[in-house]
Amino acid sequence: MVKLAPAAVFAVFTALVSAAAHAGADPGAQITRPPGYKPMAGDVALGEKLFNDTKLSTNGMSCASCHANHGAFQASFAKPYPHTVAMARDQLGRKTVYLDEMVQGCMVMPMAAKPLPWDSKELAALTTYTATLQKTFKPAR
Ligand code: HEC
Repeated sequence: MVKLAPAAVFAVFTALVSAAAHAGADPGAQITRPPGYKPMAGDVALGEKLFNDTKLSTNGMSCASCHANHGAFQASFAKPYPHTVAMARDQLGRKTVYLDEMVQGCMVMPMAAKPLPWDSKELAALTTYTATLQKTFKPAR
């Protein structure tokens, strides 16, 4: 797996947050479930493929660049959703997030991309696949 310098990751976040602040938008809005949203069951095999697909980002990263072998997941990942994820709270002002919202959060923050369409099979698949990773996740401490 590709090792990323924390400084590079931080630079991406900082650039995105200042861009959002400059636009005067609520940065949390784009990862918030739309009204009436009903999560769909997703295809795990498609989710695994997308998790490893660098084409989802604008910066050459895939989800797996950071999260292979449970990398970058903090203790919060072991808790049922919705829960607080520090990155979504600190960067996007979201107190708690659902899993699909956090997938969108990583799309817009570290992946530097647009959120996936809420009714897409891609979002459903990535969310369902990420839920399988959560099942085997044990926090380091
Ligand atoms: C550049 C590295 C990076 C990439 C790429 C990345 N993430 Fe993340 N992701 C993180 C970090 C760091 C956190 C932990 C944030 C925290 O706990 O504050 C995180 C948190 C998460 C969480 C929340 C875990 C929890 O505590 O509940 C999920 C789910 C997630 N990522 C999924 C994804 C998916 C799906 C993708 C691809 C679309 C992706 N990530 C791409 C760095 C990354």
